[in-house]
Amino acid sequence: MTNGNAATGLRDLNAGIPDADQLKGAVSAVYDDVASWSRTGDFWNWGMHCPDLLNELNGLRPNFNAGVSDTFSEQLYFQTLRGLPHTKNDFRTLKVLEVGCGMGEGLNFLTRLVDPARAVGLDISKSAIDRASAILARGDRLSYVEGDAERLPFEDGEFDLVINVESSHNYPDVERFFREVARVLKPGGHFSVIDVFDPRSSVRFGKLQQEISDFEWIHERDVTENVKSSIRQRMAPGSFFRKEYARKQMPLRARIIGGLGGAHYAGADFIGHKDALSKVLEIARIRTKFVGEYESYRHHLARRA
Ligand SMILES: C[S@@+](CC[C@H](N)C(=O)[O-])C[C@H]1O[C@@H](n2cnc3c(N)ncnc32)[C@H](O)[C@@H]1O
Repeated sequence: MTNGNAATGLRDLNAGIPDADQLKGAVSAVYDDVASWSRTGDFWNWGMHCPDLLNELNGLRPNFNAGVSDTFSEQLYFQTLRGLPHTKNDFRTLKVLEVGCGMGEGLNFLTRLVDPARAVGLDISKSAIDRASAILARGDRLSYVEGDAERLPFEDGEFDLVINVESSHNYPDVERFFREVARVLKPGGHFSVIDVFDPRSSVRFGKLQQEISDFEWIHERDVTENVKSSIRQRMAPGSFFRKEYARKQMPLRARIIGGLGGAHYAGADFIGHKDALSKVLEIARIRTKFVGEYESYRHHLARRA
């Protein structure tokens, strides 16, 4: 505490910290709102740029984006399959769950690459799940359900692979999420998680890796620079991202929250770019209190014992 005013501010903020259920309610309300102005084909992540990954993707599915995306979000999703022991053929018998699937585009994309026996996307945002179910679902092969990462509505050992993309930093109790993933995975199944970390969540992640004996961690890749490259390219004037953003029919509140040019949604503060929202949150000492300063973006893969 540096002075009386700052201390009062922080105390006020402490008093206002919502409990886990309130936090989840707020998160789902935010993403319900985002779903209301998102367009078909929108991903909700910062993307990553890795030329090798892109070449591999083009090899599997030539011209997979057909000019309808900048490919960065698809690359991020493709990264979740890195390090898995499965061939493309193996996927035909596998059941895959994505926790925190947003509007379902990423899971839809992966199923078109590797075609698993069954794929289920789960998200806490009802609006996102309604959109995914209406637009992308394909019977039992690809379905979407509303639910909470910390209380997965599935049987023990139902899935061969659980993926999680840029979502776990929203969960109040990550340990509970990990234990739920361990429960719904078959023995020998895999858990692939990719997310942004601040110093606190990074330490917590390391502790969970040590303490939860259900998982053997078999692969790790720091993709910080790849994610920053995606964000830089999206922020550049005239980028595909900026043009798409400009075309969105966003309500005024979303434009204000997004900051000019959508910098906030694109993860611009991860590359040191401060948009209007970041500045306001910093001045109010809210950003560092609730979000922390992001330091890395990493992919981790574990095998269920
Ligand atoms: C940044 S978005 C990423 C969405 C998607 N994975 C993608 O990359 O496009 C984070 C997602 O996590 C979801 N989420 C947050 N908390 C959740 C929870 N407790 N249970 C399930 N989903 C949650 C949000 O609703 C949102 O769709």
